[in-house]
Amino acid sequence: MTRYTVFGNPIAHSLSPLIHQQFAQQSQHNNVEYGRSLTSVGRFRRAVSEFFRAGGNGANVTLPFKVEAFKLANQVTERARNAGAVNTLIPTVNGGLLGDNTDGQGLVNDLKRLGISVSGKRLLLLGAGGAARGILLPLLQQQPSALSLWNRRSERAQALLLAQQKQLPSVLTRVLQIADLSHPNMPPFDLIINATSASISGNALPLVADLLHSETIGYDLMYSRAATAFQQQLTELAGVVSFDGLGMLIEQAALSYAAWNSAVVPDTHELHKSLRSQL
Ligand code: ATR
Repeated sequence: MTRYTVFGNPIAHSLSPLIHQQFAQQSQHNNVEYGRSLTSVGRFRRAVSEFFRAGGNGANVTLPFKVEAFKLANQVTERARNAGAVNTLIPTVNGGLLGDNTDGQGLVNDLKRLGISVSGKRLLLLGAGGAARGILLPLLQQQPSALSLWNRRSERAQALLLAQQKQLPSVLTRVLQIADLSHPNMPPFDLIINATSASISGNALPLVADLLHSETIGYDLMYSRAATAFQQQLTELAGVVSFDGLGMLIEQAALSYAAWNSAVVPDTHELHKSLRSQL
């Protein structure tokens, strides 16, 4: 039996078991079980070590434990180090745990799938919390011409910018800047990515039509059955085409599955067609 799980709180509505069972089926991996592990802040470390001591083959980590998982891992990948967060735990031959973060590359792969190019484009990234930090390095590696950061509390965007400038080579960070959305005459953006949690509360973001052009594309890391608040806002502002983060969820899961299974990335085509009906 191969055993995986996802640690989180809450976790009951996680789609990860469904996604990974489909990967196992199509890869003809038999006897694969993928569970949900509800745990608490105080019990997270113990729950993880019990799972792997009992022979667990890999785990995902979701909110609110991604930073705790980063601290717990014995080694981390470069992208996990830059994110300061881990969403995938991989047992190593010496009995330790390798921590990876597949969120950012999952987003990049989903953008590719949707035919959205980042290279040479002007990007606006909304948010400076864990979700924003988690996707920054893979986005910068796509070589946008500008990556402007905006956050409701501007000092957090500033801190994120400085942290990236300290951690990453200047060839990657030279395109990073702080966005002042109220600045007149700012050239419009080609791609706007919402990494705030404003869509949860349905709050509008301070976006104006001048920030958009007719080909601008929006992408919300959140997903829901109907269009998210951010997507609705872009439609109302300028009829902008936008996508939600369900595709990213599938793509980051495929990269986790690959990390546990000799780097073979499962085909995600069928899931992109079927998963929305499960929401
Ligand atoms: P996560 O790890 O999911 O990114 P987080 O670290 O709590 O969670 O960050 C949430 C992000 O959403 C932050 O960028 C937050 O802005 P602040 O840093 O100013 O708090 C942003 N956010 C939440 N609600 C928002 C709202 N109504 N309008 C704009 N930004 C909002």
